[in-house]
Amino acid sequence: MPSVPSRLTLERDARRLWHPYTQAAVVPPPIPIVRGQGAWLWDEDGRRYIDAISSWWVTTHGHAQPEIAAAIARQAAELEQVIFAGFTHRPAAELAEKLAAILPAGLSRIFYSDDGSTAVEVALKMALQYWHNLGQPRRRGFIALEHAYHGDTAAAMAVGAPSPFTAAFAPLLFPVARAHAAYCHRCPVGRRRETCHIECLDRMEQLLRAEGEQTAAVILEPLLQGAGGMIVHPREFLAGARRLCDRYGVLLIADEVLTGFGRTGTMFACQQAEVTPDILCLSKGLTGGFLPLAVTACREEIYQAFYSTDRRKTLFHGHSYTANPVGCAAALASLALFEKPQTWERIRRIGRQHAARLARLTGDAKTAGKIADARQIGTVAALELRGAEGESPEDGEEIVEEGYLSSLGLKLQKFYLDHGVILRPLGPIVYVLPPYSISEAELETVWDVVTASLEVI
Ligand SMILES: Cc1ncc(COP(=O)(O)O)c(C=O)c1O
Repeated sequence: MPSVPSRLTLERDARRLWHPYTQAAVVPPPIPIVRGQGAWLWDEDGRRYIDAISSWWVTTHGHAQPEIAAAIARQAAELEQVIFAGFTHRPAAELAEKLAAILPAGLSRIFYSDDGSTAVEVALKMALQYWHNLGQPRRRGFIALEHAYHGDTAAAMAVGAPSPFTAAFAPLLFPVARAHAAYCHRCPVGRRRETCHIECLDRMEQLLRAEGEQTAAVILEPLLQGAGGMIVHPREFLAGARRLCDRYGVLLIADEVLTGFGRTGTMFACQQAEVTPDILCLSKGLTGGFLPLAVTACREEIYQAFYSTDRRKTLFHGHSYTANPVGCAAALASLALFEKPQTWERIRRIGRQHAARLARLTGDAKTAGKIADARQIGTVAALELRGAEGESPEDGEEIVEEGYLSSLGLKLQKFYLDHGVILRPLGPIVYVLPPYSISEAELETVWDVVTASLEVI
């Protein structure tokens, strides 16, 4: 492709577009992408890049995966959209059945929306109205974790950890009680994982003891906090949070927007701790990364608190595109791919490769000194860099801010792009989160580039 169209697109983009999480005054212009296949994206000038972050963590089976693309085309030609109040359709019903069959046992009701943030908004509203409908409106508080990220809509921001990103929106945010996260590398209670008993959970218990009767729900990202810094939690933390919620009669909301659909090595992260939350949020990988669609799943008992001849007990929430048939068809095609053993073989192979490369990096004297912490769960691997750690605030809540504002993050991002790999470090945290279609050789290339980047910081 000649470079002229690329300049044209950029000029038009610069004149008219406003990109998310982008300070256009300081970052390089965006790269115009024309095509994707597997782990690769091609720009207008014919350059190609390995998408090692699955395009903001959504792409699972690879870009332009043919079976999902065909399912979308078929559905769009048959029924592209229908109002979902008073009407229903086969793709929505079939997807709900399929999800209920694979979700942690007991999550039997499916409410659709459009993206991760709305899945969380619905979960929070569902939890509040559940108690309201049961005649316990005093249960209106939420407990969330340090370093949490649950999206950018108002209530999702409120339960996310406060940061300079949310500062301007303070008038929109309701107060939330903050429990410790199991950030083992920066243990909030000064323990070591080898000898600890998950004492970081004590704070959650203190909050529940003090405010449990005014608390509607605990919300957390199970096993892996993503935007907060790819923080991997011990399974015992999640299992313990479930026990505490049971003990204090509080709902548990699991935000699996990132962790769902194989990311952590199992279909859902909760399964690794044998936990069934009361409410579970899904989006990102739901459609294989093709279309925006989200799910808030809940236990039947929660649905029953809304099912009534009293119309005031209705869940008053919905979006124009709720249960879009094309999105549901994409999700069904994606789920069919998870039924193939090759998908799980790939997920396991990515996990093995990540583990081997992390071990090599932390075992080699040349690179080990640059790495403060190496962590991995399933297909997600992260390095917390030491060089940057000195500069980065001790308070990890600001890591996301670092990721956006730090010159290190931008410098590394440019290095990766120059080497044909798309990675967006969260400040001092470089992470690899590829589509499952990535080949062994492609993933080795990604790790070679990450290794080379440690020499330039
Ligand atoms: C755990 C988690 N929840 C919610 C969201 C918000 O999802 P969306 O960006 O689709 O609104 C994200 C996005 O990164 C996320 O990682």
